[in-house]
Amino acid sequence: MANIKEEQVLDALRNVMDPDLGKDIVTLGFIEDLKIDGGNVKFRLVLTTPACPMKNKMKSEAEDNVKKIDGVKDVEITLDARTPSSREPEEAFPDIKHVLLVASGKGGVGKSTVAVNLAVALKETGSKVGILDADIYGPSVPAMLGVRAQPKVENKKMVPPVVFGMPVMSIGFLADDDQALIWRGPILHQVLTQFVQDVTWGCLDYLIIDLPPGTGDVQISLAQLVRASAALLVSTPQDMAFRDVKRAAVMFQSVDVPVIGLVENMAAFKCPHCGEETVVFPSTNKDGIRHITDDIWVETLVGVPLEPAIAESSEQGVPMVLAHPDSSTAKSFTELAGKVAQKLSILAVKSEQPVASGKTDQ
Ligand SMILES: Nc1ncnc2c1ncn2[C@@H]1O[C@H](COP(=O)(O)OP(=O)(O)OP(=O)(O)O)[C@@H](O)[C@H]1O
Ligand SMILES: [Mg+2]
Repeated sequence: MANIKEEQVLDALRNVMDPDLGKDIVTLGFIEDLKIDGGNVKFRLVLTTPACPMKNKMKSEAEDNVKKIDGVKDVEITLDARTPSSREPEEAFPDIKHVLLVASGKGGVGKSTVAVNLAVALKETGSKVGILDADIYGPSVPAMLGVRAQPKVENKKMVPPVVFGMPVMSIGFLADDDQALIWRGPILHQVLTQFVQDVTWGCLDYLIIDLPPGTGDVQISLAQLVRASAALLVSTPQDMAFRDVKRAAVMFQSVDVPVIGLVENMAAFKCPHCGEETVVFPSTNKDGIRHITDDIWVETLVGVPLEPAIAESSEQGVPMVLAHPDSSTAKSFTELAGKVAQKLSILAVKSEQPVASGKTDQ
């Protein structure tokens, strides 16, 4: 039997494309620790995120291609991920690969709900995730996650409580709502800087930040302070609400933060008795793309229905994704997590930052 050569295996693997990055998995450097022992071929397939929704497809394509090589009896592939960063290593949060802002121009559209469910859905894929509730006007993340502990102070830095496996920090831990509302100008900036910089997060793949509603100085300062990788917008689907989304998208463009997409929340009412969905708000968004200006547009990544169970689970401090994991709404959040992870990976690979050294096994 002819000896199988490393080059033969790599050539076979060149037939497998990463559909998001538009290159094959060998060119992308995803194959590591390739070992050939007689007819047995073994390697690690190291993707750009543990949350990649295509991971099983790529793994089985890789296996099929290697099995076609004459003499190959067994193929053992270990899936792994090393998240590249779209951020400069020396910036705020050096050990965090992606910082995602969840924002909207408007209040009460479901930003915090989306932020916590997205975070949990990313965590469920094996990613390391943290949540920062930066809503100085009404921090609601601790309640939505049922956080009872306060941050500890170690080496003059705050160590966030860990809830559902995620470190969680909230402006609500530092001040009550009334106090936060009266902060202005330089004091506000000082508080926000401390709040952002003096926290021990550890190594994270994703830090999800729940921004306060609006498109003013506070949001701009925060986006710059945290050196955000990208923003995800949340809106109810009616055209009236969409005007605020436009303002938010233009604001992010002015500070060079790419908008990776839109979540249309409360898109339809889902009846808790029969499960039927009724459209609540009229929308002119037919093709999944929202045009903002000639050169700005956002893609709707998912629609989330208006569903009593979402509000109930928030009240109980257990996000929908964990409280009702088999519901179609939980699946929408899982779909959102996959899309967000894909978009952030594309941004990171395009920005051609060197792959950060921290490794995340899944
Ligand atoms: N799809 C949904 N179905 C049912 N209830 C929802 C849905 N999305 C959000 N809610 C509820 O609506 C209320 C507002 O949501 P949430 O607090 O997430 O909005 P927000 O945009 O963060 O608000 P704010 O601007 O005040 O921070 C909450 O009680 C939440 O549980
Ligand atoms: Mg909120």
